[in-house]
Amino acid sequence: MLRRLHTEQPESFAFTPANLAWAEAQVTKYPEGRQASAVIPLLWRAQEQEGWLSKPAIEAVADMLGMAYIRVLEVASFYFMFQLQPVGSVAHIQICGTTSCMICGAEDLIAVCKEKIANKPHTLSADGKFSWEEVECLGACTNAPMAQIGKDYYEDMTAEGFAQLLDDLAAGKVPAPGPMNGRFASEPKSGLTTLTEFDSGHAKYNASAQLATDIGDTVKRIDGTEVPLVTPWLGEDGAVAGREAAEPTPKAPAAAKPAAKQAEEAKKEKAPEKSAETPAEQPKADAEPGVVPVSDAADASQDAGPDDLKRLKGVGPKLEEKLNAAGVTTFAQIAAWGAKDIAEMDDKLSFKGRIERDGWVEQAKLLASGGDTEFSKRVAKGDVYED
Ligand code: FES
Repeated sequence: MLRRLHTEQPESFAFTPANLAWAEAQVTKYPEGRQASAVIPLLWRAQEQEGWLSKPAIEAVADMLGMAYIRVLEVASFYFMFQLQPVGSVAHIQICGTTSCMICGAEDLIAVCKEKIANKPHTLSADGKFSWEEVECLGACTNAPMAQIGKDYYEDMTAEGFAQLLDDLAAGKVPAPGPMNGRFASEPKSGLTTLTEFDSGHAKYNASAQLATDIGDTVKRIDGTEVPLVTPWLGEDGAVAGREAAEPTPKAPAAAKPAAKQAEEAKKEKAPEKSAETPAEQPKADAEPGVVPVSDAADASQDAGPDDLKRLKGVGPKLEEKLNAAGVTTFAQIAAWGAKDIAEMDDKLSFKGRIERDGWVEQAKLLASGGDTEFSKRVAKGDVYED
């Protein structure tokens, strides 16, 4: 398949302010003179924002990184994950057509795409809501046939179920990803034959599907406001820790503030008055910039009783039990964790890296100061855990 720029192009491209801050922060991960290393993350974020990569978007990324346009076009046209033509405004459907899926019914799913979306791949449906393509194995062969829709996998599909899924998406609903035939994960369809003591607890979904529903951005266009900008490698002045502050790349926008600084200012504007007044009481010196500070809320919240720690993304019923058993019952306690506390708790939970990967401390700071995250709102609504 020829991969070329689409014949119709928009006039311009610009990252949203939050995506721009994120993109600038990514560039600072790399040593001076190696900013081009950020080309794939920046192209990907441009695609997440717009749905596809236009010529102006490719050129904007090239400008940010001080690269020749042709070099960025080479990257964008080489990797099939980059869409070089407009995709459906609701979703771009990627049907796996490799062996397992083909044997198990991928051709039926493709027939649905041809009937309900467009006869040819990479073509918009009449209403502009959908586009589709056939892709190579997506690594979910035990749940064949499957499709990637937006960011997530829909598995164990039938033609009828897939047609209904498209109707639901067109109606603005986003069905939960994962197996569509009642399987929990990739266990045998006839039931467990090993690990029969396995207990999914109160979980509605397997871990992948749960995370997908927690994040809730399956078909969302990303504007950068979805998750807090976390830049642990930057100091408060926006400089890379342990290095001199990097000069901006030749073509970088001159007026742009360092990403960490922007995030810090944005958070200060949003932070409650009490938090802004108490930076000196920050319990740990290694707290990250741009995160709502927590003062002596720990004592107050302990007085008020335990928090529902499951409102933290990454903490399910079982981890909550383990945390409680370790004496951790409030957001304020977690908000005050430093690197040493995190390392100790990592050992106790036997889940190394999870605390940092899921950003528990940042989430806990927000929740302890009375704020909410997208995930905590969904938990409060009962969308995540069964009663
Ligand atoms: Fe379809 Fe592997 S063959 S996911």
